[in-house]
Amino acid sequence: MLKIKIAPSILGADYGDLNHYLQHLEPFSDMFHIDVMDGNFVPNMSIGAMVVDCIKTTLPLDCHLMINNPHKYIADFAKAGAHIITIHAEASKNLKKDIELIQSFNCLAGVSINPKTPVKKIEKILPLVDMVLIMSVEAGFGGQHFMPEVLPKIKEIRDKYPNLDIEIDGGIDDKTAPLAKSVGANVFVAGSYILKSDNPKKAAERLRKSVENS
Ligand code: DX5
Ligand code: ZN
Repeated sequence: MLKIKIAPSILGADYGDLNHYLQHLEPFSDMFHIDVMDGNFVPNMSIGAMVVDCIKTTLPLDCHLMINNPHKYIADFAKAGAHIITIHAEASKNLKKDIELIQSFNCLAGVSINPKTPVKKIEKILPLVDMVLIMSVEAGFGGQHFMPEVLPKIKEIRDKYPNLDIEIDGGIDDKTAPLAKSVGANVFVAGSYILKSDNPKKAAERLRKSVENS
C-alpha cells in the first residue's frame, strides 16, 4: 500500500515567520510543499531558492517550480535543501534532461501538468520520474476551486504505475481529497484549507483522517 502523505503548502503564509509556522505543523505533516512562481510561467510571484535555504524543518521540502526554463534554477533549489523538485511539463524545453539533472543532485524528480494538459504529454517521462503532480486548479494562485475533471488523469496514471507517488494540488480539503484518493492519488497538498483555518493543526489532522478513512 502506498503511503498517504499530507503536504501543507506555504503559499500565503507569513514568510517572515515561516519557520515558526512549519514547526507548529511538523507533527501533522509528512512534507512541506513550497510553491515557487516566477511571474512568467504563471502570473504571480512567490519565493526563490534563497528563501528555501532559510527554512528550518526536519521534514522533506517538496519544491513545486512553476517557472519557465527550470533547468537554470534546479541546482539552486537542490543546494537550498529541496528533497523533491517538481517541474512543469509545459515549462520545460527538455523534460528528460531536466528530470535527469534533478536526480543528479540526489533529489527526487517530479513532473507536473496543468488541468488542460493531457497525460500524453508526460507519457514518455513517467517511467523516469519519482512523482507526478496533477494540478487540480490552474497553477498560479491559492484559494481556487478544485476541478473534478482532472480526476480521470490520476486514474489513467495509477492504472499503469501502481507504485508511483501521485500528488494532487489545488482546492484540496476534506471533501475533495477523498475524491482524488478514490482514483489513486496518495500525496495531498493543501494551502488555504490549512492556512486559512482557525486551527491549522486540526485542519491538517482532519485532512489526513478524511483520506485515511475513505
Ligand atoms: C497553486 C499552488 C498550490 C497552492 C494550493 O498554483 O501550486 O500549491 O498553494 O493552494 P490551495 O490549497 O489554496 O488551492
Ligand atoms: Zn503547488
